[in-house]
Amino acid sequence: MPKLGSQLLRYDSVASTNDLAREMALSGAPEGLAVVAAHQTAGRGRQGRSWASPPGQGLYLSLVLRPQVHPAEAPIITLAAAIAVAETLRLDFDLRADIKWPNDLLVAGRKICGILLETATERETLQYAVLGLGVNLCQQSFPEELQETATSLLIETGRITAPDEFLSPLLDRLETWYRASVAQPPDVIARWEALSSYARGCHVVVATGSGMVEGVTRGLTARGGLLVESQGERREVLSGEVSLRKGDDPAKSPA
Ligand code: BTN
Repeated sequence: MPKLGSQLLRYDSVASTNDLAREMALSGAPEGLAVVAAHQTAGRGRQGRSWASPPGQGLYLSLVLRPQVHPAEAPIITLAAAIAVAETLRLDFDLRADIKWPNDLLVAGRKICGILLETATERETLQYAVLGLGVNLCQQSFPEELQETATSLLIETGRITAPDEFLSPLLDRLETWYRASVAQPPDVIARWEALSSYARGCHVVVATGSGMVEGVTRGLTARGGLLVESQGERREVLSGEVSLRKGDDPAKSPA
């Protein structure tokens, strides 16, 4: 089983590392192949959004994965990736990182990293997955529309972090948690819950494809859905955008 990132391809500028990794997966690239670029001209985020990827200011990484899991179990991989980033931020950079379901990494209530998992399925079988991670490293400031919601390692630590300084511990932690997501999903759920202040007892509003769900979080389900309780009834949310209910502290983070 090759280690994640043992084969690492570096580029100066690409449209999107996820697109490149997908092309490579389609041409038979092995599990663990990593693509890193110094710049993306068309970086993509979740829900059709773009991911600002200025040259030399972030880590833009995509990995080809070939997990032997049912497609419905793939979301656990994004939770595992969020754990890997949260642990890197906490243990290697001494930052109080939080995870907002499903996989936004926050520091001081602002997003520092985003994760995009894209899968290809054929007849109920997962063919491959591409795991993309974008980490804000060296931005001193953000465009006006992101100023309130985004942050970087430079803003939070006051020092420049080179992409490889983050990449190396991240790949080790991704190796651990990705393998756990396939072999021991309950361990991933438990660790994610321990690292996220949003997991339990948090008043949230979730924008889902079928409307708004408001209530108090009650942890994750076995497949990584968020349980939200309202008027004594619990609902599992499988995808959506979480916000704290108005008036709740946006900068809280777990111990
Ligand atoms: C999000 O929070 O919306 C997810 C952002 C994911 C961005 C990364 S950067 C590397 C990889 N290539 C992309 O085009 N997107 C992901």
